[in-house]
This record gives sequence, structure tokens and C-alpha cells, in this order.
Amino acid sequence: MAHSTVADIPVNIYRPKDPYVGKAVDNIRLTPEDSPNDVRHVVLDLSEGSLRYIEGQSIGIVPPGTDANGKPHKLRLYSIASSRIGDHKDSKTVSLCVKRVVYKHPETGAEVRGVASNHICSLKPGDPVMITGPVGKSFLLPEDPTMNIVMIATGTGIAPFRAFLRHIYDEMPTPWQGEVWLFFGVQTSVDLLYHDELVGYTEKSGGKFKLMTAISREQKNAEGGRMYVQHRIAEHADTLWSMVQQRNTCTYICGLRGMEDGIDVAFTTAAAKQGLEWPAYQFDLKQSDLWHVETY
Ligand code: FAD
Ligand code: A2P
Repeated sequence: MAHSTVADIPVNIYRPKDPYVGKAVDNIRLTPEDSPNDVRHVVLDLSEGSLRYIEGQSIGIVPPGTDANGKPHKLRLYSIASSRIGDHKDSKTVSLCVKRVVYKHPETGAEVRGVASNHICSLKPGDPVMITGPVGKSFLLPEDPTMNIVMIATGTGIAPFRAFLRHIYDEMPTPWQGEVWLFFGVQTSVDLLYHDELVGYTEKSGGKFKLMTAISREQKNAEGGRMYVQHRIAEHADTLWSMVQQRNTCTYICGLRGMEDGIDVAFTTAAAKQGLEWPAYQFDLKQSDLWHVETY
């Protein structure tokens, strides 16, 4: 069972005013050195504290130092990429999947580096890290292992789904029985984070887990533009619509906020074929804990 009651879900064990000071254990670059995208799998040690978490939750990272106004930096949230027992399987670590934010200032053209992501992506083993949380009480696995799970991710939005997959296929006494679909959008094939693990689950799940990738800068959508997750969803919209209508499917969306409209377009088209209005139906799915969104 994923979790027994809401009261069992650990939240806010460490707060921003008194964060847990953990240590970096591993910092592995997931994308090749020559890729413009620097995405890291970072493992943090929790062994000296009481932080625990379940799949689908996030933690806060408080960057060291102060902002331009001399105030301590505010925390940034990161989805947890490990299952509750951690990558070392001893319940003493938490893992994150973080993209280094670097961009040109739209007016000055100067290079700007995101505060927290650069702190995390540059961590070396043994470096201290201020951690808060965990947070999140709804982006969680369903308790019933016969439910279908549809996961839609762009980029680092894969983090909670890596945690889900590890839990349902590696750790549950009986592997998940429902269908499990993952739509995953990245720029190029080398940006397919955790690809070997994901492909491994297509075999380990006995065919229950299906991986559908949208590689925006290598594949084209039907209109000749970049292939995004919402275009892959449009290809399967009728099946997905019938899955959500059966009320035995939990849908999760994680990653770039921009994908949400496109996903709505795909479901609007499918629902309209039966004379139904997607927004009202989606509202009802959300109310019933069957539609979860964590976009940033
Ligand atoms: P900041 O110093 O805060 O700068 C970011 C700001 O820079 C943006 O708000 C924007 O104003 C500006 N900016 C960024 N890019 C550009 C651009 N190209 N052009 C112009 N302006 C730009 N991130 C992950 O990497 N992995 C995760 O698993 C993850 N999970 C998250 C979960 C949740 C629930 C939320 C809310 C966010 C999550 N994030 C995740 C995002 C993360 O919290 C940070 O926002 C991100 O890492 C940037 O923080 P930063 O301190 O590096 O950048
Ligand atoms: P692209 O950058 O080629 O336009 P990121 O690495 O920035 O997190 O992006 C992950 C993937 O999400 C990339 O393939 C990116 O495509 C894609 N993406 C960017 N904008 C959107 C959007 N509005 N909807 C869906 N996918 C998007």
C-alpha cells in the first residue's frame, strides 16, 4: 500500500527558519558534457536528522548566502527523485534531479545563473546543504495497485515519476497491477534522463509500463513543429479519455507549466466527440484525486 492515511504523510519536519543541514553524497551529471543542458542527479545524506518522505513529495533547498537586498535566500522546491528508502536503500538519503539554470538577461544580455540550481548542481561530496520539508500531500501514488497511472513529464519533471516507478516495481511486495504510461518530453535523445532505468521497467513490468517519448528537437509533430508531450498525448487521446472516464486512472503532470494548455486541447477534442466539456470533467477528476499537476 502506498500510504495508509493522510496522517501518515510526513510534512514540514524541517522548516525554513531551522532547516536540516545535510551533506551531499553524490552529484552525477545525467546529460553529456557537451550537451547545453546540465542536469544532475544529486544524492543528499539525511542520516543525522529525522527527515523522511514518500514518493511524489518535494523538499526545499535554502541556498547559502544572501540576496541583493542582504536578506537570506528564499528556499526553492525540488521534487524528490528517490523512493522513500532512498537510492542506497537504507532510508538515509534523498535524491533530486536538478537542471542548472543559466540564461542571458533579456535586456542586458549578461549571463544570469539561478541561485539554488547552481548551488545544487555544483555540490561536491561532503558539502553542506540546507533542507526543508518535505511538502506535498496530494501528488502521491494511489493506494489501490489495480489503478492505472498516467504520468506526463518534461525535463526534470521526470523526478517524481522515477520515485513512483522505483516504488511500484522494485519495492512493493506485489508489483503494480494497473497499466502505467509515461509520456516524457526532452530536447534531444541525449537528454532522456534515467533512460536505462525507464527502459528496464518496460521489461520488469511484464508489459504493463509503456514509455512514450517526445523529442522536441529531433521529431516533428503533425503540423511540422517541435514534438512536445501534448502532441504524443493527442495521438493517444481517445484511449486516454476512455481510461480517465473509467475512473480507475490517476493522471500526473510534472515539469514545464507550458505543457498544460496543450494537454487540455488534446482532452477537449476527445471529450467533445462525446458531447462532453473537458474543463468541467477535469475539475471533477481533480476533486476526486484523479488528476494531479505540479508544474513550474
Ligand atoms: P532563480 O535564481 O530563482 O532564478 C529563476 C528565475 O530566473 C525565474 O523565475 C525567471 O524569472 C528567471 N529565468 C529563468 N530562466 C530564464 C530565461 N531563460 N530567460 C529569462 N529569465 C529566466 N527544478 C528542477 O530542476 N528539478 C525539480 O525537480 C524541480 N521541482 C520543482 C518542484 C516544485 C513543486 C516547484 C515549484 C519547482 C520545482 N523546480 C524544480 C524549480 C525550482 O524550484 C527552481 O525554480 C529552479 O531550480 C530555479 O531556481 P534557481 O534558484 O536556480 O533560479
Ligand atoms: P524545446 O526546448 O525544444 O522547445 P527543458 O529541458 O527546458 O526542461 O524542456 C524539456 C522539454 O519540454 C523540451 O523538449 C522542451 O522543448 C519542451 N517544452 C518546452 N516548452 C514546452 C511547452 N510549452 N509544452 C510542452 N513541452 C515544452
